[in-house]
Amino acid sequence: MKVLIVGGGGREHAIAMCVKKSEKVEKLYCAPGNAGIAQIAECAPIGAMEFDKLVAFAKEKEIDFVIVGMDDPLVGGLVDKMEEAGIRTFGPRKNAAILEGSKAFSKDLMKKYNIPTAAYENFDSADEALAYLETAKMPIVLKADGLALGKGVLICNTKEEAIEGVKSIMLDKNFGDAGNRMVIEEFMTGREVSVLSFVDGKTIRIMTSAQDHKRAKDGDKGLNTGGMGTFSPSPFYTEEVDEFCKKYIYQATVDAMAAEGRPFKGVIFFGLMLTENGPKVLEYNARFGDPEAQVVLPRMKNDIIEVMEACVDGTLDNIELEFEDNAAVCVVLASDGYPVSYEKGKVISGLEAFEKQDGYYCFHAGTKQTEAGIVTNGGRVLGITAKGDNLKEARANAYKATEWVSFENKYMRNDIGKSIDEVN
Ligand code: AMP
Ligand code: GLY
Repeated sequence: MKVLIVGGGGREHAIAMCVKKSEKVEKLYCAPGNAGIAQIAECAPIGAMEFDKLVAFAKEKEIDFVIVGMDDPLVGGLVDKMEEAGIRTFGPRKNAAILEGSKAFSKDLMKKYNIPTAAYENFDSADEALAYLETAKMPIVLKADGLALGKGVLICNTKEEAIEGVKSIMLDKNFGDAGNRMVIEEFMTGREVSVLSFVDGKTIRIMTSAQDHKRAKDGDKGLNTGGMGTFSPSPFYTEEVDEFCKKYIYQATVDAMAAEGRPFKGVIFFGLMLTENGPKVLEYNARFGDPEAQVVLPRMKNDIIEVMEACVDGTLDNIELEFEDNAAVCVVLASDGYPVSYEKGKVISGLEAFEKQDGYYCFHAGTKQTEAGIVTNGGRVLGITAKGDNLKEARANAYKATEWVSFENKYMRNDIGKSIDEVN
C-alpha cells in the first residue's frame, strides 16, 4: 500500500522508520518531512495545516493510508477531512483530539469519570481567575487551555507570580487564543512518566513506558522545551503503578471518550505523575510524544501498519504489542539558545556514521537539505538514539553517538537518564 505521513519532526522520522519496515508498504510519502525523512520517503513541500492541499496530494498519489503525527492538524480536524475524501487515516477525529486540544475539556472529563488528576478550576475570565488566587494555596499551576507548543504551563511559587501568570495568559495573550480559557490546578510533586498507547475507540494497548526531560538545562533547570531527551523503559513505572493505571486511568479514559460520543482512535499519550497518593494524570496528548517516540518505536517488534490499521478498523483486541527486552536512550542535539532564539543554517557533518551501526539511530527534527549539504533548520535538530541491554548501557551508547555528529552551535543536555542511577 501507499502511505502518507503528515509532519516533519523526529517523531515522524521514527514513525517513518517503522512504516518503512512493514512488508505491506510499497511506497512512503511524507509532508512536509525533513532532510532525514527524505532519505527513506518521498517528501512533498506541503505544510501540516494545509488541509486542502494534503487531501489533493493524497488523492493524486492514490494514498491508501494516512498517518497524522502532529497535534495541530489533529486538533484542527485533518483526520475528518481525509475521511470525508474516502482516505483511511490513523489518528483521532477532531471531536476526540480535543482530549489534547482543550485542557479544560480533559480536566472536566477526568472529574466526571473519576480519573485521578490534580484538583482544578477552569476560568473564562481573568477577573474570576484573579479572584480565585486570593485564597489559593501556593505553589500553583496555570495552564492555557489550548495548544501552545508545550509552553502554556506556568508553575508559580508566589501569589505575585501567579497574578502575573494569569495576566500573561488571559490579558496579554502570550499564548494567543490558547489563553482564551485557562485551568488553575493544584501543584503536585513526584516523578513523571510518559505512557503511550494505541486505541481503537474501545480497546487500548499500552506501549512500553518512557521518560522525557522537558527543561533546557542540566539538573532540570532552564525553560521548558519540547523535550531534550528520553529513556525507555522507565524503571519507576513498576508493576504496581501499571496495575493502578490499568484499573483507574487507561481503560477509564477510553470508555469516557466513547460515552461522551467522542470515540478515540489513534495514540493516547498519558503524561503521569507518580505522587505519594498514587499515579495521577498531568495531561493527555492525542499523538505520539516527541522525543518519546524516538525511544519507544525502535523497541517495538510489531508491524506498525498492522497495529494502526487495527486502530482504524476497531480490531485492536486481536493484537498484542511486543517490545524488545532492552532499553533505549535518546539525546536531543539542539541549536544553542533553544527554546528562545538560535541560529539556523549550520552545516551538519558525521551523519553517515549511523548508516552502518545497528541499534543506533539519528532521527532528524529540524534539518534541511541544501546545496552545501544537510543544515540545521530548527531548535531541536537531531535525536540521537541508542539501544543497550539495559538503561546504563543505552545511555553510554547514546552519548558516544552524539560525538559522531557535529555542527557549529550544537547543544545538548549531559544528564539525560541520570535518574536511573538512583535505582540499583
Ligand atoms: P503539561 O504540558 O500539562 O504536561 O505540563 C508541562 C509540565 O509542567 C509537566 O511535564 C510537569 O512537569 C509540569 N506540570 C504540569 N501540571 C503540573 C501539576 N499539576 N503539578 C506539578 N507540575 C505540573
Ligand atoms: N515530549 C512531550 C510531548 O511530546 O508533548
